[in-house]
Amino acid sequence: MSAALVSEASPQAPVIASGDLTSDLSITSSELRDLLSLASELKLNPTRYAASLKHRYLSLLFEKPSLRTRLTFELAIKQLGGDAVVSIGPIGDREPTKDIARNLDRWTNAIVARTFLQSTIDELAAWSSVPVINALSDMYHPCQSFADLQTIEERFDSLAGIKLCFVGDGNNVAHSLMLNGARMGMHISIACPKGYEPNMHVLDQSLHFAQQAGGSVSVTNDVNEGVSGAHVVYTDVWTSMGQEAEAEERIRTFTPYQVNSELMAAASRDAIFLHCLPAKRGQEVTDAVIESNQSAVFDQAENRLHAQKALLLMLLA
Ligand code: CP
Ligand code: NVA
Repeated sequence: MSAALVSEASPQAPVIASGDLTSDLSITSSELRDLLSLASELKLNPTRYAASLKHRYLSLLFEKPSLRTRLTFELAIKQLGGDAVVSIGPIGDREPTKDIARNLDRWTNAIVARTFLQSTIDELAAWSSVPVINALSDMYHPCQSFADLQTIEERFDSLAGIKLCFVGDGNNVAHSLMLNGARMGMHISIACPKGYEPNMHVLDQSLHFAQQAGGSVSVTNDVNEGVSGAHVVYTDVWTSMGQEAEAEERIRTFTPYQVNSELMAAASRDAIFLHCLPAKRGQEVTDAVIESNQSAVFDQAENRLHAQKALLLMLLA
């Protein structure tokens, strides 16, 4: 075989057996391990799989705003040889969600959806004959957590035994970190105000994963206890998209949970700061922390691209 033929052949990517990523539970622990390895490989060799998804198209549906998720999915599919089309607006208002799924699966090879409700993602998946990918719902943000784990592994050379404290609202971003961190053997601590604890089912599932992988998951209302000894301090906005009416009350409730230099000093000496972005400086994080040497937020944002390229290869190649 000539050298030209060898270099043109598409390398083989591992697969996600469930065929979807409706939540973090769609991917097994060993598939997650494969995804993180493939993401690192893609970061080192960005063009290695450049033709693997030639003539493959994504439908990107967004009920909410996005910078990182939308642009990294568009770039990811293009860098793998395919392309994407985008639709912004409510899903299921103008026509039933099940009809949307059965239009998009005739035109494109996968549906990536950012929705208000997890049930919208599940309904798309139930009716679509092509993979459906969760690009954030009220319950999960799996694609974010893949990039987060990639970033942590880059900094600490491993995930097992690393303590991550998520400070803030126990919702989508926290849920995905709990599930995926726990099954990689991490120690996940959620520090949140009373009434903003993670979903009980997600907590139970995370505890189960932690037990299998030698990690742990805990929830506390005491932020200093949460960050004590943490290698990673992670926060997210206090008011998620769609909760704007609660913003004032949330600012009052969450103010003691701000990640500032004093709180970072309570973490491990080599701790890094992570944030999924967009950040509200002066609320959940101070400008000093997000701009500090401890901050790895732009590595995280970069890794969205590599991790999603890995995900697309595992679902579509
Ligand atoms: N972190 C994240 O999902 O960013 P976007 O809302 O800009 O997509
Ligand atoms: N929890 C935030 C994450 C944004 C990426 C939200 O749902 O708006």
